[in-house]
Amino acid sequence: RKARTQMLIAMHEEASQWFQRNLRVASGDFCRKYLTDRGMTQDVMDKFQLGYSPDDWHGLDNFLKSKGRNPDQGVEAGLLSKNEKGNIYDRFRGRLIFPIQNLSGKVIAFGGRIITDGEPKYLNSSDTPIYKKGDHLYGLNLARSTMTRTKRAILTEGYMDVISLHQFGYTDACGVLGTALTSEQVKRLAGFVSRIDLVFDGDGAGHKAAMKSSRMILLQGVACKVVIMPDGEDVDSLLQVQGADGFEACMNEAPDGLAYCMNTLRTAFAPREIMAWAKSFLSDLADASLRAYYLPRLAAGLGLSEADFRRDAGVSAPPRNTQQQP
Ligand code: GTP
Ligand code: MN
Ligand code: MN
Ligand code: MN
Ligand code: MN
Repeated sequence: RKARTQMLIAMHEEASQWFQRNLRVASGDFCRKYLTDRGMTQDVMDKFQLGYSPDDWHGLDNFLKSKGRNPDQGVEAGLLSKNEKGNIYDRFRGRLIFPIQNLSGKVIAFGGRIITDGEPKYLNSSDTPIYKKGDHLYGLNLARSTMTRTKRAILTEGYMDVISLHQFGYTDACGVLGTALTSEQVKRLAGFVSRIDLVFDGDGAGHKAAMKSSRMILLQGVACKVVIMPDGEDVDSLLQVQGADGFEACMNEAPDGLAYCMNTLRTAFAPREIMAWAKSFLSDLADASLRAYYLPRLAAGLGLSEADFRRDAGVSAPPRNTQQQP
């Protein structure tokens, strides 16, 4: 099993070298121009080891063969695909390549963005023995050292969001790769930080994710803020247009996770439903001192005294002397 893991990682490393080389040569000009046009500097392109997969059915296939790799191993690694006839071909074609690295900086998966027209916009590696999407955070290996110093993680949606944040000096940023944050991912971050700043896109999916994710983070005893992006923007587009000042302005207005949830609920739901949310949040809090910390805050959010809230929610008084902040 160890040998297989090592083989899979070695193939990803070889593939990543090849993708990176393709971005630097003439055939990668168009892709490099795409990145430059989006405002990306050479420094972060190098830092994130971006690459390019030519629009070719057998580019990586042939390269791996030249390295003495068995094509079926390439399929097992998720780098190559196999059709019904048993023919093997490149999975990533004509795409800007984002290597996904583990904490030791080894490449374990890829994301590829189409740079002309076509679907899907992003193609990612499927889960393999070395990569489980829901356990992983994009860029964590590059953000870890800053995070351990700042004790804060900026958590955002996409590859470009993470890279732009790093480019603008926010080197404690990492990415969910979508909006489906898992409690495994939160657990990993909790090993490094005491606070997470959520920066999801300014769209329906982003707002929904902020609500769900902040609840999940608070339940694990990690503080969180929700940084709200202007409608139609994500942090990449915001930084590229407004720079760090624009982002700082959003950060300064960012509500705490609980305030964000309560505010959002208040805009759409009756007090009875907000009470139901508060009750469920409270009962999902495993830790007694966290329950004691949130009880008065939930009450205040509902405009109730603590005693009234406890009575309506049907919860007993928390033990004293445990009301420290999480
Ligand atoms: P850019 O146009 O490159 O800025 O992307 P975006 O800001 O429109 O990305 P979006 O907010 O739609 O998605 C954020 C992240 O979700 C991406 O970085 C991907 O990791 C993931 N994602 C987006 N679209 C797809 C898709 O079509 N397929 C898959 N598998 N993942 C996607
Ligand atoms: Mn989109
Ligand atoms: Mn999005
Ligand atoms: Mn974007
Ligand atoms: Mn986006």
